Amino acid sequence: MTLLNPLASSLSKGHAMPTENRDDTLAAPHAQAGAPALAAAIPAGHGHVTTSEFKIRARDVNVFYGEKQALFDVSLDVPAKSVTAFIGPSGCGKSTFLRCINRMNDTIPSAKVQGSIEIDGADVNAKSVDPVVLRSRVGMVFQKPNPFPKTIFENVAYGPKIHGLASRKEDLEGIVESSLKKAGLWNEVADRLHQPGTGLSGGQQQRLVIARAIAVSPEVILMDEPCSALDPIATAKIEELIDELRSQYCIVIVTHSMAQAARVSQKTAFFHLGKLVESGPTEEMFTNPRDTRTQDYITGRFG
Ligand SMILES: Nc1ncnc2c1ncn2[C@@H]1O[C@H](COP(=O)(O)OP(=O)(O)OP(=O)(O)O)[C@@H](O)[C@H]1O
Ligand SMILES: [Mg+2]
Repeated sequence: MTLLNPLASSLSKGHAMPTENRDDTLAAPHAQAGAPALAAAIPAGHGHVTTSEFKIRARDVNVFYGEKQALFDVSLDVPAKSVTAFIGPSGCGKSTFLRCINRMNDTIPSAKVQGSIEIDGADVNAKSVDPVVLRSRVGMVFQKPNPFPKTIFENVAYGPKIHGLASRKEDLEGIVESSLKKAGLWNEVADRLHQPGTGLSGGQQQRLVIARAIAVSPEVILMDEPCSALDPIATAKIEELIDELRSQYCIVIVTHSMAQAARVSQKTAFFHLGKLVESGPTEEMFTNPRDTRTQDYITGRFG
């Protein structure tokens, strides 16, 4: 039960965001003084308790691929237990920013990330943070469903096994069942758990991958265009699922569909040419954007 500890322990090493950078109007009253002790006390994977209403705080994030700069001074607060949509034209840096949150950019040799990203006040880039542990707290779902070439059961059981979350067979079976139920897939696969995950339909595979992410009790789920390979019915199922999951998880979804962003998210962030142009409550962003670039994009004038 140490999943949270690498991040929580970095809090006590002075990585917490200076209070002047916090959004005081929205931070919970206890968010500042008591945060490190509280964060350290939360058992991993169980209490999805946050120390403020923001789960993720990014400040002045710049990303370079070699000489080319892909993100410019991105600062954003991502609320806990809520869905945040990233929108913007192709190549504007949405996936790049998403990958900063669970350090997937570490796997791209030319990528260099500057600035700070904190989850519950702890710096994800701190030396003490093991990226493998971080990625179990911050799960990721990609555009193309990517089940392992294993059985449905094994796809979901893999994470809990390698992270030592279940010592007994019954515990593991319990995690697999509850994860598949949360992902809305149990009824469709209960009688074929030992058949290959790759034999499912695209929409089912995407829910399997979501079940796999949920199985390690993440706190954040990042979804990069999770419905772009799916038909409208499978898309509706995933959107319904996202809506159910938001009571327990902080969810970030990248989408090219304005309608989808409007349907599933409570906060929307608009990126353009590597910059975060504006962010705010989804309804406001779609009805009353502040920036003409946002207005032009959401009304289909470019992108
Ligand atoms: N691995 C990489 N190596 C070099 N450049 C990259 C890499 N990944 C992304 N880029 C560049 O960084 C910029 C932002 O790309 P990114 O994939 O983040 O955009 P995006 O908003 O997700 O686009 P899309 O909507 O098409 O998925 C682009 O100019 C892209 O070419
Ligand atoms: Mg992308």
